[in-house]
Amino acid sequence: MADPRSRVAMISGANRGIGAAIAELLSRQGWRLSLGVRDPSRLVPPADEGQILVCGFDARRPGSEQAWAQATAERFGRIDVVIANAGITIPKTVIEANDEELDDLFQVNVRSPLRLVRGAWPWLTRSGQGRVITIVSLSGLRVKSAKAGLYSTSKFAALAMTHAIRHAGWEDGVRATAVCPGFVATDMAAGLTDRLAQDMTQPADLAHLVSVILDLPNNASVAELPINSTLEEML
Ligand code: NAI
Repeated sequence: MADPRSRVAMISGANRGIGAAIAELLSRQGWRLSLGVRDPSRLVPPADEGQILVCGFDARRPGSEQAWAQATAERFGRIDVVIANAGITIPKTVIEANDEELDDLFQVNVRSPLRLVRGAWPWLTRSGQGRVITIVSLSGLRVKSAKAGLYSTSKFAALAMTHAIRHAGWEDGVRATAVCPGFVATDMAAGLTDRLAQDMTQPADLAHLVSVILDLPNNASVAELPINSTLEEML
């Protein structure tokens, strides 16, 4: 593998939760990072300016992904990794939800990650060891409940998108992984369940798994990685 210190990773939604934990770990490991957030002025970067670029990016603003990828390539001269982490949930059944809510979920959870990968594609394919990691969810592998149904439609699509990217980039050395956790102790989960944070998967442990995936060579590709915090039935 290339020296991690020379590689460049873009991480969306790196201001809190899972994205912040991944940024912190990769930064400690010496990666050069490009962090995409809605409000760059509020982000406290985990390392000095030489190693980190912070860019404005809004998943609801098509075009911001391309601009962010361009700015990253101009600053570092390469992009090796895209971590599509930014995401939202709307806890509604598919019957309750309206078209606007469905569109919003797809905009943030599916279309924007795809635009981001397309924006970085020339550099990912040039890397020889390009990596795309999508933070999907166990809700991309099974529909857990009626209320999780709407979110699941977007996460199933995000899972398929990640496999499709894997196919599209294989010959050029791009490997794509769908990371599929259950509840992770972040703001998102706190708004959905009264389960104690200590009983959920910790963001730092997910970051560790992401780091391991990024260290694997092209011939040890992980396509999907389900992570459970509790025992549950799978279909
Ligand atoms: P979070 O709510 O703490 O973080 C979400 C991140 O996405 C934030 O950085 C937020 O600023 C960003 N974001 C949201 N809308 C955005 C937009 N329009 N433009 C740019 N950035 C936007 O939640 P968490 O848990 O860190 O979520 C990260 C990813 O993990 C999401 O894709 C989520 O669906 C997924 N996930 C979370 C689980 C959990 O239990 N927390 C479980 C499985 C997957």
